[in-house]
Amino acid sequence: MSHVITIHSDLSKGKINRNIYGHFSEHLGRCIYEGIWVGEDSPIPNTEGIRNDVLEALKQLNIPVLRWPGGCFADEYHWKDGVGPSENRKQMVNTHWGGVVENNHFGTHEFLRLCELLDCEPYISGNVGSGTVQEMSEWVEYMTFDGVSPMAAWRQENGREKPWNVKYFGVGNENWGCGGNMRPEYYADLYRRYQTYVRNYGDNKIYKIACGPNVDDYRWMETVMREAHPFMDAISLHYYTVPGEFWTSKGAATGFSEQEWFTTMKKALHMDELITRHSAIMDQYDPNKRIGLIVDEWGTWFDVEPGTNPGFLYQQNTIRDALVAGLTLNIFHEHNDRVVMANIAQIVNVLQSVILTEGEKMLLTPTYHVFDMYKVHQDAERLATHYSGTDYEMDGEKIPQVSVTASKDQAGKIHVSLCNVSHTEQSDVTIQLRGLNGLVSKIVGQQLASDSLDAHNTFESPDVLKPTPFETFELQGDVLYAKLPPMSVTVLEITAE
Ligand code: AHR
Repeated sequence: MSHVITIHSDLSKGKINRNIYGHFSEHLGRCIYEGIWVGEDSPIPNTEGIRNDVLEALKQLNIPVLRWPGGCFADEYHWKDGVGPSENRKQMVNTHWGGVVENNHFGTHEFLRLCELLDCEPYISGNVGSGTVQEMSEWVEYMTFDGVSPMAAWRQENGREKPWNVKYFGVGNENWGCGGNMRPEYYADLYRRYQTYVRNYGDNKIYKIACGPNVDDYRWMETVMREAHPFMDAISLHYYTVPGEFWTSKGAATGFSEQEWFTTMKKALHMDELITRHSAIMDQYDPNKRIGLIVDEWGTWFDVEPGTNPGFLYQQNTIRDALVAGLTLNIFHEHNDRVVMANIAQIVNVLQSVILTEGEKMLLTPTYHVFDMYKVHQDAERLATHYSGTDYEMDGEKIPQVSVTASKDQAGKIHVSLCNVSHTEQSDVTIQLRGLNGLVSKIVGQQLASDSLDAHNTFESPDVLKPTPFETFELQGDVLYAKLPPMSVTVLEITAE
């Protein structure tokens, strides 16, 4: 099937914010406990309680930003229960996620230490649903105030002399649902009030993030923007790719049908329409695009693995997830004028994770490999691209078979990422490299591909799916001919000098 792509190597469309490669960690199931935090006394090798294998694997991804402590958990989290000597910390019930006991051993100090070890920015979600204005205000003071104050003194008593730098702060999460079931008018007023007391101390400048809509709730976006836009730096959007019905049967993570494969790809592509339409509403109140759109929850959401706690949201991760990751990151790139951050849900053992653990064992998922291959786009200049080609069809429905994005990094290298979403058809792609004037000196590629719809890594066979060198291409002048196998994600690196 024929597919033609033009890459305008001399036509920059602005920077791809590295924060688009952000992650999300919630006190949910085995994400924090077991997945990240095992405690200092664990037989699992750890650094100050954080497991070393997961830490090392995550470092490799150059994670720019990590969101915590929720999710729904954030709006019933009381940060003061999670500081001080761990043996004195209050236990609570995690009512949203399995009704399990939360011992608060992983709190503010532990999270901010994790961010230091990962060399990433923390993104804290504050509690609007069940917390007070004073509580939120004091959390910011505790973390960022450098001077004499009650919260700074308490932080020092708890072992941290200097404040941390905390830039990203979310004022509530899903306040249209688990964060308080509010109407947008009510939330907009609460947002204005709570954010007033989220103070900037010293050089620490907080970037305030308002709770935005669920999926296509355009009324929420319109109302919150209208009523509160002068008080925010960004607003969030949540959208999950669910092949079935959210409340009844979402579909299994493995062993699914060809139809479910197609539907998953189609629903992942819906992100493009959501961003376009929400951004158009934002334009009415913010034509100069001062306010960022942050997709701080995205990814696949399937039925939990059989036999696991339904409240723990543990799911396998296949080549299908890899394609969803590639397609979604490509969409974020194309909207780099508005999308300034995104956080895949969630980092370990929950929903579309990059890492799964079982006891002392750990595996890297296909989604991990996509984030690893794609990290070359972080902070690079997006290049204009054009694609035309045969659609991928099933039961009378059509979607584009190939998705492409390209960028130029600071060293001048061009990276082209390509997804072939068809589960049966190879894509023969002709890529015209405009603006390079025959100067291409080297091309290398990496590919993640499989011939089985639900290929995945297991603890017994952790390397079933991993990137391999991509070699089925040929360069003639400034035209590159590439053969992309079905169900594949490919990243090419082009050097021209
Ligand atoms: O990521 C799982 C949950 O999905 C989050 O806690 C919530 O914000 C969303 O509904």
